[in-house]
Amino acid sequence: MKIAPSVLTADFTNLVAELKSIDTADYLHIDIMDGHFVPNISFGSAITKQISQISPLPLDIHLMVTAPLKWIDQFAASNPKFITIHTEANRVKETIKSIESHRIGVGLSIKPKTPISDLMPYIDHANLILVMTVEPGFGGQTFIIETLDKVKELVKYRQANGLSYVIEVDGGINEDNIKLCRDAGVDISVAGSYLFNQKDRQKAILSLR
Ligand code: DX5
Ligand code: ZN
Repeated sequence: MKIAPSVLTADFTNLVAELKSIDTADYLHIDIMDGHFVPNISFGSAITKQISQISPLPLDIHLMVTAPLKWIDQFAASNPKFITIHTEANRVKETIKSIESHRIGVGLSIKPKTPISDLMPYIDHANLILVMTVEPGFGGQTFIIETLDKVKELVKYRQANGLSYVIEVDGGINEDNIKLCRDAGVDISVAGSYLFNQKDRQKAILSLR
């Protein structure tokens, strides 16, 4: 299991040390919220760029925004491994094209109540599929176990159709439910509050993995 700590729950007044404390993880998950797609605002591309300069980890950018198309060029400047957009957002097709034009991995995400059929028009373009395991907007919520049924279906669909996307889950992941995620076939787990609440985060990353 690959682990992607979410910086959202880090202490931003002490970011250099916070990023160092999780630098043995696999990716760094960057939650971007516009106050419209979700009822919360986080931070933007300038801070993301600074984070990319002090973290050795490949960035996994999660855009929880209504109109992702106009932000792709700016986030591409941080040279992320993936930019993930939601199928519930606007102009999905054009946004995928824009991400591809930067040679960045395309991620597609669905909220807990969105069926996987909403991914189908674009699934051939996906390098990553992010199944939200909480309603997006805030760290520290409770994991919704039913969302793992979608993970299982996506594993089957990938196999049956010769596709190669990785499957990521995000929200409420902890040491107990990560085993269920593994058994369902998840490749990457985002960990926010659980991980940042641990004293020894490197040890926590190892045990989550
Ligand atoms: C929720 C974000 C998550 C969140 C994860 O909208 O997309 O990445 O920060 O945090 P935890 O692990 O605390 O749920
Ligand atoms: Zn996220």
